[in-house]
Amino acid sequence: MGSMSAMNEVLFVTGNSHKVKEANRVLSLFGITVKMVECEKVEIQSESLTRIAKYAASLAAKRLGKPVIVEDSGLFVKALEGFPGPFSSYVYKTIGCGGVLQLMSGITDRRAVFKCAVAFCSPGLPPLAFEGKAYGSISSSIRGSGGFGFDPIFIPRSGDGRTFAEMPPEDKDRLSHRGAAFRAFGEWYAKSGRALNL
Ligand code: IMP
Repeated sequence: MGSMSAMNEVLFVTGNSHKVKEANRVLSLFGITVKMVECEKVEIQSESLTRIAKYAASLAAKRLGKPVIVEDSGLFVKALEGFPGPFSSYVYKTIGCGGVLQLMSGITDRRAVFKCAVAFCSPGLPPLAFEGKAYGSISSSIRGSGGFGFDPIFIPRSGDGRTFAEMPPEDKDRLSHRGAAFRAFGEWYAKSGRALNL
């Protein structure tokens, strides 16, 4: 049987330290911490973030021989038929926030949704997924310096008009897709998942 601390720590396979910080802020409420590991993350091509995350989590759990979390997220813009969606990371690295604003120039329907899928997998068991969404809109200019990625151009609908990048981290956690997905994971893990992490 593992120690209490091992049971409360889960490996998070990702190269993105912002995601790890956000996950740890949310999971601290459940007494859980995640530890970043940079195992190769195999990304299948799919329109479903959940399928991508589950597949990557199964492979990483097998490779590391330990329970792991993999998270996949993206920004889906309604007027662009859901683009960049699963390709968000590539689109951010290439055209960035400015490029997305350019694609949106002249478009009045600025609705968008951020989605996040957190997959947990224990070696030999099927992966489980927890999802979160944040509805909102694309701003008309780049605003704020907090967060990462597309935060400076996303205004959550349930907020007060600020972009994710303009708010303190705790406000983003409360409203974000990642906050929702990690809260769902935290609730499950605290109740029944912890027993799998021995
Ligand atoms: P992936 O999950 O590593 O494939 O990358 C998701 C990409 O979506 C990131 O690289 C960001 O560009 C974008 N993204 C996901 N979540 C957020 C967020 O909370 N804020 C801003 N951008 C995000």
